[in-house]
Amino acid sequence: DKGNHRHFMQKEIYEQPVVVAQTLRSYLRPLESKVALPDMDFDLSAIERVAIVACGTASYVGMIGKYWIEQLARVPVEVDVASEYRYRDPVLLPNTLGIVISQSGETADTLAALRHMRAAGVTTAGIINVPTSSMAREVDLLMPTHAGPEIGVASTKAFTCQLAVMAAFAANLARAKGRLGDEADVVQQLQQVPEAMSEALGHDGDIEAMAPKIAAARDVLYLGRGPEFPLALEGALKLKEISYIHAEGYASGEMKHGPIALIDEAVPLIVIAPSGPLFDKTVSNMQEAQARGAQVVLISDAEGIAQAGENTIATIEMPKVAPLIAPLVYAVPVQLLAYHVAVAKGTDVDQPRNLAKSVTVE
Ligand code: F6R
Repeated sequence: DKGNHRHFMQKEIYEQPVVVAQTLRSYLRPLESKVALPDMDFDLSAIERVAIVACGTASYVGMIGKYWIEQLARVPVEVDVASEYRYRDPVLLPNTLGIVISQSGETADTLAALRHMRAAGVTTAGIINVPTSSMAREVDLLMPTHAGPEIGVASTKAFTCQLAVMAAFAANLARAKGRLGDEADVVQQLQQVPEAMSEALGHDGDIEAMAPKIAAARDVLYLGRGPEFPLALEGALKLKEISYIHAEGYASGEMKHGPIALIDEAVPLIVIAPSGPLFDKTVSNMQEAQARGAQVVLISDAEGIAQAGENTIATIEMPKVAPLIAPLVYAVPVQLLAYHVAVAKGTDVDQPRNLAKSVTVE
């Protein structure tokens, strides 16, 4: 049931404050200022490396997780797309935790990668939405998302719920490693996510109004830095999937190593840049592109927009949030942009051509 929404995707984008709160409820103990995981029968403090495997949107959660886990816990992380992982003969060292991320829990490549890790004797964990799925049954530690059924083929609420669980995992691993610092601060930041997402949803009208400008493009580029780089990849994937517009995501600093050659007035550039320590660098990459005629859409907070919002075709204002939670909050405008562009183009948003919700063949 789509309720009063036009598409399941739109309904699922709007559900995010509720389902992310629901997911966080089983990982946060606010009264004790603690971030918790389900019980496990292995010693988290003994984990010396993490190998994350997933496909598509879920793999971008893994990439964002790499930033968080390495920064908070100082444990090295590798991230692979599942279809590559199983055939590249990965080196599986002792004390590795293998993590699979999957909405369906049935994606064939991810399931095969999980079985490969288990056969090699690696302890495994899964961030999974369908609790009865094959992956949920086979991992040593199930870290469920509580996104509820996701009907739209393009993943939205599963993505942000996966991020919420990934943040909780990173904080727990950091604590196990004696590196967490102020845990109450992490709890407080994560608790702010649902409200910040609601605020982000409040800008739906601005995004809908600018969507026709993007809908006319043949190619679109997304830029981000740090944890917002995988979000740029996610934005590009979402746009490709449902609007059939060619889009690519790049790390902002990579622009000058090639993609800037593509820039002209016809290529919109979506810049995902919360204000903060990396902001100036991203802005200088953005200005290099603007000097070559790029039509920029800047997604930032009031401070960032005041500093760099000039000469853009549009700005989308996000609430000012802690860096840890920015990827969850900035996911909302990224999803809404893809959604409204697809609606403007008249494509089948919930059932894009050539795609299936669950990819159970290799
Ligand atoms: C993108 C999308 C896909 C899935 C991928 C993994 O919107 O939905 O990229 O993320 O097929 O699916 P799961 O999470 O079920 O393993």
